[in-house]
Amino acid sequence: MKLSRKIFLLSAVACSMMVAHGAAHAHAAKGPTDPADERARQVLAHMSLQDKMSLLFSVDGGGFNGSVAPPGGLGSAAYLRAPAGSGLPDLQISDAGLGIRNPAHIRKDGAAVSLPSGLSTASSWDVDMAREAGAMIGREAWQSGFNVLLGGGADLTRDPRGGRNFEYAGEDPLQTGRMVGSTIAGVQSQHVISTLKHYAMNDLETSRMTMSADIDHVAMRESDLLGFEIAMETGHPGSVMCSYNRVNDLYACENPYLLTRTMKQDWHYPGFVMSDWGATHSSARAALAGLDQESAGDHADARPYFQTLLAADVKAGRVPQSRIDDMAQRIVRSLFAQGLVDHPPVRAPLDVVTDTLVAQRDEEEGAVLLRNEGNVLPLATTARIAVIGGHADVGVISGGGSSQVDPIGGEVVKGPGKKDWPGDPVYFPSSPLRAMRAEAPAAHITYDPGTNIAAAVRAARAADVAVVYATQFTFEGMDAPNMHLDGNADALIAAVAAANPHTVVVMETGDPVLMPWNSSVAGVLEAWFPGSGGGTALARLLFGKVAPSGHLTMTFPQAESQLAHPDIAGVNANNVFEMQFHTDQELVYDEGSDVGYRWFDRNHLKPLYPFGHGLTYTTFATDGLVAGYHHKQLTVTFNVRNTGTRPGVDVPQVYVGLPDGGARRLAGWQRVKLAPGESRQVSVQVDPRLLAHFDGRHDRWDIPSGRFRVWLGTSAVDDSQQVTVHVHGRTMAP
Ligand code: BGC
Repeated sequence: MKLSRKIFLLSAVACSMMVAHGAAHAHAAKGPTDPADERARQVLAHMSLQDKMSLLFSVDGGGFNGSVAPPGGLGSAAYLRAPAGSGLPDLQISDAGLGIRNPAHIRKDGAAVSLPSGLSTASSWDVDMAREAGAMIGREAWQSGFNVLLGGGADLTRDPRGGRNFEYAGEDPLQTGRMVGSTIAGVQSQHVISTLKHYAMNDLETSRMTMSADIDHVAMRESDLLGFEIAMETGHPGSVMCSYNRVNDLYACENPYLLTRTMKQDWHYPGFVMSDWGATHSSARAALAGLDQESAGDHADARPYFQTLLAADVKAGRVPQSRIDDMAQRIVRSLFAQGLVDHPPVRAPLDVVTDTLVAQRDEEEGAVLLRNEGNVLPLATTARIAVIGGHADVGVISGGGSSQVDPIGGEVVKGPGKKDWPGDPVYFPSSPLRAMRAEAPAAHITYDPGTNIAAAVRAARAADVAVVYATQFTFEGMDAPNMHLDGNADALIAAVAAANPHTVVVMETGDPVLMPWNSSVAGVLEAWFPGSGGGTALARLLFGKVAPSGHLTMTFPQAESQLAHPDIAGVNANNVFEMQFHTDQELVYDEGSDVGYRWFDRNHLKPLYPFGHGLTYTTFATDGLVAGYHHKQLTVTFNVRNTGTRPGVDVPQVYVGLPDGGARRLAGWQRVKLAPGESRQVSVQVDPRLLAHFDGRHDRWDIPSGRFRVWLGTSAVDDSQQVTVHVHGRTMAP
C-alpha cells in the first residue's frame, strides 16, 4: 500500500482564487468575533440587487456530463463566483461525505483519502470518531482549495435495499442525527461548510426524480425529520441540500412545509438551502417556499431559474425583494459563521499517511462482528488460512456515485468497462491479503479468487480456517434489486463452509444482505465499504490486534417479505436513468415513524440480526438498571463490567416504550471501554422528544403522563433488563 505517497497540489500558499475579489467589504466589516449575522448584514448593505442575486446561483463546476471547469473553478460539482469587490470568497463546491471527489477525473491530482462508508462510521456509535472523520475530509477539502463540501447525508434507511444507504447512517433518528451531526461538526472545524442532505425523504433511489414520498406530517416529524433536526442541532451545518423527490406531492425544493415552516421557523435554521443537482423546478415557487440557492443551474436544471426568471419575478412583485435579501443574508452568514472569509483555504499536499490512519480507525470501529461461533475469531497468528474471493488480494470495494473518491494509488481491479453510470466498481488499493500477511508473518496464508468454486473448496480443505471475502456493490441512482451478495458469493460461501467448519465471511456491502448460509459458517464480520485504510483495518480486526466494537444501525431481515414494503415499484428498470425517472407514482409510507427495528417490534417479527447487535472478543455484563425522572429529565443509570479476558468496548443501549403503546425507540447509548475485570457506572440522559408524540395541530411535542418502559440492552430485541418510570406529561415547543 502506497501510504507514503503524497499528493502535491499546485502550491502551499494561499489559493488566490479563493481570496476575495478586492477585499473591500468583508474585511472592512467588524472583527472576527462579531456574530456572523451582523457581519453578513454589513457586507450586504453595500451590495446591489444584482450582486445579491448572483449569490443565489452556482454553475456546474465541470463535474456534469463531461463538461469543463468554468474560469476560476477548480473542477468539481459546482462553482460560484463571488460579486466583485464584495470581499467574499468564491465558492468551490465539492462532493461529498466520504472524501474529496474528482468527477470524471477532471483534476490532474484529484485522488484523495476515502473514509469507509457513512454506515460504517455510524456503526461505531462513537461521536468522537465521527467528528474526527469529518475533520479529516474537511481538512483535505481545505487543502485542496474547496470551501463547501456536499456531505452529511442523513436520510433514514426505510428500505435495506436503498442504493445510497451506505452514504447515510441507518434507520434511527437519534443515532443518525448524532452521528451525522458530529461528522458535520468535524468538517466545519476546518473552515469548510458541510451540507446536510438530502432533505427530505429521499430514502430510495428508484424514481427519485419523480416520486412523491407520502407520509403524514406527524410521522415524518417523529422519524426522518427528527434525524435531520438532531443532525442540525449537533453539527450546525452551513447549508442544507433539498432532495430530488417530492414529499406529499410537492417537490422537496419547493416545499414550504419542509423548508420554511419546519426548518427555518420551527428549528430556527439560520443557514441556506441549496438544491440537489437538477432538483430546482421553478423560480418564484421555489424561492417563496424557502430555496435559497440553485445548484449548477446552468447544466443541471431544465432552466436556469434563479437568474433572469427570478429577477423578473422580483421586478413583477411575485417575489418580494425582502426574500432575496433573506436568501443572500443566509448564504453570506454561513460564509462568516464557518470561517470561509477569515480562513480561506491554503492549498497544501495532503497528509496521506495521517489521513489514511483516520480512515483505518474509522473502519476498525465501524465493522460489526455479527457471528463468532466457538470463538473462531480472532485468528491464530500461526494458522494455515485460505483467503478466498472479493479481490482481497488487491483491495477493498467502494460504493458508486457522487460520493466516490478517486483512490490514491489508482484503481486496482479492472472491470469490464461499463459505460453507464456509475461505471465499474472502484476498489481501493488497501489489500486485506497483504495486510493479513503483514499482521501474521508466521501464518501460512494462501489466496484463491473464488471464481472457481471447486478450486476454492480445495484451498479451504487444506487450511485450518477459510476467510471468504464477499461483496455487494451498491451505488447512487439505483436501489439493490434484491438483497443478495454479488456474483456467486452465496454458493461459494455455502461450498466453502461445507468443506471447512472454521469458515469466516467478511462482507463488504452497502446494505444488509440475506445470508442463507449463516448457520453453517463460524464467523461473520460486516465490514461495509472499508475505505482507504480498509485492508489494514480488517487484518487487525481478524487477528485481534484491535477488537471489533461496531454495532448495527440497520436491521438485517430474514427475508424481504418481512419488510414494510417487500417490493420496490420499478426497481427492475433496464438502466439507472430509467429507474430514477421510473414513474411519478406515490410511495405511501404507511408504516409512519415505525422505521426499521420499530417496524419489526410493532409486528413481532424476528430479524436475522437486530439493530444494535454487535459482538466482540470479550464479554460484558450490565446490571443495576435505574431510571429516574427529575426536573423534566429522564436519566437512566446502570453498571457495565468486562467479564472476559480481553480489553474491549461495549455499547449498551437504552430503549423506551411510551405508556400509550407503540414500538420501542432508541433513547440513548454509551460507548464504554473497559479492561478485563473493570466495571463502570454510566448514565444516559434521554432527549425529551423521544418520550413525546409530535402534535401536528399545535406544532409542538407532547409527553404523555404515565409509566414509561425502559430497556437496557445489547440490541433492539433484548428484553432481559427492563424497569418502568413514572413521567409527568408536558408539552414542548419544537
Ligand atoms: C447527488 C448529490 C450530489 C450532487 C452533486 C447529485 O446527483 O444527489 O448528493 O451532491 O449530485 O454531485
